[in-house]
Amino acid sequence: MAEASNSRTIKVGTVEVPGRVALAPLAGYTEYPFRAAVATFGCPYAVTPLISAEGLVRRNRNTLRLLARGDDDAPVVAAQIFGARRGGMAEAAKIVADAGFPLVDVNLGCPAPKIRKQEAGAALAGNAVALRRIARAVVAASPVPVTAKMRLARDPSDKSTLAAAKLLSEEGVAALTVHGRAVDQGLRGPVDFYAVKEIAETVPLPVWANGGVETPQDAEALLKETAAAGVMVGRAAVSRPYLINDIETYLADGAVPAAPSRAELAEAIMFHFDKAAALDGEERAARHFRIHLLAYLKGARGAKALLPRAARVACRRDVADLLEEFAKPPEDGP
Ligand SMILES: Cc1cc2nc3c(=O)[nH]c(=O)nc-3n(C[C@H](O)[C@H](O)[C@H](O)COP(=O)(O)O)c2cc1C
Repeated sequence: MAEASNSRTIKVGTVEVPGRVALAPLAGYTEYPFRAAVATFGCPYAVTPLISAEGLVRRNRNTLRLLARGDDDAPVVAAQIFGARRGGMAEAAKIVADAGFPLVDVNLGCPAPKIRKQEAGAALAGNAVALRRIARAVVAASPVPVTAKMRLARDPSDKSTLAAAKLLSEEGVAALTVHGRAVDQGLRGPVDFYAVKEIAETVPLPVWANGGVETPQDAEALLKETAAAGVMVGRAAVSRPYLINDIETYLADGAVPAAPSRAELAEAIMFHFDKAAALDGEERAARHFRIHLLAYLKGARGAKALLPRAARVACRRDVADLLEEFAKPPEDGP
C-alpha cells in the first residue's frame, strides 16, 4: 500500500489525482459528455470506456471518437485500452497520450466473450507470459503513467489476481483498480473485501477498490475494509452524477451534502445533452441519450411517469421539454 487511506490526493507516477473517489469506466456511458456532467458536481478522476487498441491503430472513426475530451472534463482522465498484441497496445498508449490523456489504463477485467476470445481483458490477466510482455511494452512506449483495472479469479484460493498485480508492479505499472468480484460473478453479488485488501497491502502501488458502492457509507466501508487508497464508483453514478462528490465530501467532513434540486439536476442533464450533441450531432446524440435519461430518471423519486417519454427522445426539444417537466417538484413532496 503506497498511500495512507485518509490522504486526499493519490500519486500515480508523476500524476497527482486530487481526490479519492473516481468514476469507473463504463462502456456506453463514461464518454466525454457524461464525464463533463459528472464534473459539474465534482469528480477528481474518471476513466473512459474501454477503447480498442487495434481500432486506434487503424484510426477507426468510431474508436477515435472515444478520445474526445475537453477543458470541463474531470481533472484527471485515464484512457482505458484493451488488446492482445504488444505492438498494438504500445502504439495505442502513444496515441491516447498524444490526445492529451494524462494516464493510460489497461483493461484486464472485461469478461465479454468477444474480448476474451481475442485473449484481451480478463483473459490477458490470466496469462502471465502474455501479460508481462504487454505490460512491459506499454510501459516502455507510454509517455504517461500506466495503470490497470482487474477483477478477481473465480476461486478465492486462486491467487492469480494477486500474482498478476505483483507482476504489473514489477513491470512499472503505476496504480491498480481492483473490482472485488470474480469474473463469473458478473456485476452482482458480494464484493470480496479481503482479496482486494490482500492486493492493496502487498503491492507497493495505490489501489482503487471497486464494486457495489451505492452510498457514501458503502464507499467508506470499502476503503476501511480493503485499506485501498481510493474507491471507484460505476453504476450508481450513472443515476446520481453527484454521488462522487457526495462521497468525497462525506469522506472529508463526515457529512453528505444536500441532494441537488430537480432544477439543478435538470440543468446538468441538459448540459450533458448539449455536450453530446456537439460531439455527435443532435439526432445521434438524442438516440444515445435515451439510456442516460432512463438512468437519471430512475435515480429520482416520482419520475416514473416520464420513463416512456425518455425512451423516445429524438431531438433537443424533446429532451428540453422532458426536463422542464422533470424540474417541477413531484406531487408528493419537494
Ligand atoms: C454498462 C457497463 C459497462 C462497463 N464497461 C467497462 C469498461 O469499459 N471497462 C472496465 O474496465 N469495466 C467496465 N465495467 C465495469 C465497471 O467499471 C465496474 O467495475 C463495475 O460496474 C463494478 O462497479 P459498480 O458496482 O460500482 O458498478 C462496466 C460495467 C457496466 C455495468
